[in-house]
Amino acid sequence: MWTLKTKLTMIVQQNVSIKHLNTFGIDFKVDNYIVVDSMQVVKELSEEKKLIKHKIQVGGGSNILCIEEQLHATLIHNQLKGKKIIKETAEHVWVEIMAGEKWHDFVVYAIENNWGGVENLSLIPGTVGAAPIQNIGAYGVEVSNCIAEVHAWNWNDKESIKFNKEECKFGYRTSIFKEKWKQKILITSVVFKLDKHHHFNTTYGAITQELDKMGITTLSIKAISDAVIAIRKSKLPNPEVLGNAGSFFKNPTIKLAHFKELQKLHTLIPSFAVDAQHVKVPAGWLIEQCGWKGKKVGACGVHKDQALVLVNYGKASGRDLFNLSEAIIQDVQEKFNIELEREVQILRNTLL
Ligand code: EPU
Repeated sequence: MWTLKTKLTMIVQQNVSIKHLNTFGIDFKVDNYIVVDSMQVVKELSEEKKLIKHKIQVGGGSNILCIEEQLHATLIHNQLKGKKIIKETAEHVWVEIMAGEKWHDFVVYAIENNWGGVENLSLIPGTVGAAPIQNIGAYGVEVSNCIAEVHAWNWNDKESIKFNKEECKFGYRTSIFKEKWKQKILITSVVFKLDKHHHFNTTYGAITQELDKMGITTLSIKAISDAVIAIRKSKLPNPEVLGNAGSFFKNPTIKLAHFKELQKLHTLIPSFAVDAQHVKVPAGWLIEQCGWKGKKVGACGVHKDQALVLVNYGKASGRDLFNLSEAIIQDVQEKFNIELEREVQILRNTLL
C-alpha cells in the first residue's frame, strides 16, 4: 500500500482492470491506476517518485497491447479536458485542446467552426494528447501538418515544457515523444493551427471515389470528413464492436533495389515513393499475400477487410495477439525479406 499524504486531490486505485481502457478489450490489471484530470493532480503525482517510477500513460488506449495479466506499473489515465482559441488572423485560427479530449470530438468541433486541416483525420480512435506521439495519419494527411505546439509536463523538472513543431521531430508514425522524451513527459495540451480558407486534400484515391459515390459536386471539409468516415467504417472494424488497435504494423520502407527484385516475382506489388532510393510498401498487402487476411487463430485473428488490423474476437489474451503478430512478422520476413515493425506499443513488465 502506498501511504499518501492527506488532503490530496489525487486518487490512487490498486489492482484495477484495464479491459475498458484498451481498444483491444484485453483483460489485464495494473498495480496502480490514477486519473489525471487537473494540473493539480499532475503536480501532486510528480512528488510521488515511487508511483511514477514505472508508469504507463494512456489517453484512449487505442494503441497499446499488454502481454501480461498484471502489469507492475502505475497507469496514468490522461483526462485533462478543455479547449480555447489562442489567436486568430484572417487566414488561420490557433486552438489549444487539452490532451484528454477525444480526437474525433475535436475534429467535429473544427468542422462545426468551419476550420480546415483535420477533416481527413476523422474518426481516428484515441485522444488529442496521443495524436502527436505517433503523428497519426490517414488519407493523405498527418496531424503534424497542423500542429503548432505541444505542451507537456516534465516529470523530472516538475514544470511545464513547450515544443514547437520543429522540436517535435515528426516522422511517419513517430516523433520525439516516442524517442528522446518517451516516459519523461506527460502531454497536457496541443495547439493546432487551422485554416479559415480551406485546402482540400483528396489525393488519396479512395476519397475521390467515395465523394463521387456520395454525389458530392461542391467540395467542403464536411464532405471530406463524411467520405473519410464512410471509408473507415467500410474497412476498419469499430473497436467498440470488435477489439482492435487500428493498424498493428507500420508500412515498411525498403530500398528501391530490393523493391525491383520483389517486383520481378510479384508484379502487382504496390508501393509509394519515399525518396529517390526508397519506397514504402503497404504492410496490409504483404500480410495478405502470406495468406493471413481473414484468418482466425483461437480467439484472435487478422481482419477480413484490412490485413493490417489484428482483432480480438472476445477472449484473446495479449499474449495470443502478440504471438499472432510474431507469426505474421516471420512469414513476411521469409516471403519478402522485409521486417515488419509494430505500430502498436507492447506493454510488458520487463520493459518498464
Ligand atoms: N492492401 C491490401 N490488403 C489489405 C490492406 C491493404 O492489399 O488487406 C493494400 C492495397 O493495395 C491498398 C494499400 O494496401 O491499396 C493501402 O491500403 P489502405 O488504403 O487501406 O491503407 P494502409 O496503408 O493499409 C494506412 C494507415 C491507416 C490509414 C490508411 C488510410 C499505416 C500503418 N496505416 O493503411 O492508418 O487509415 O493508410 O490513409 O500507415 C492506423 O494507423 O491505425 C491506421 C488505420
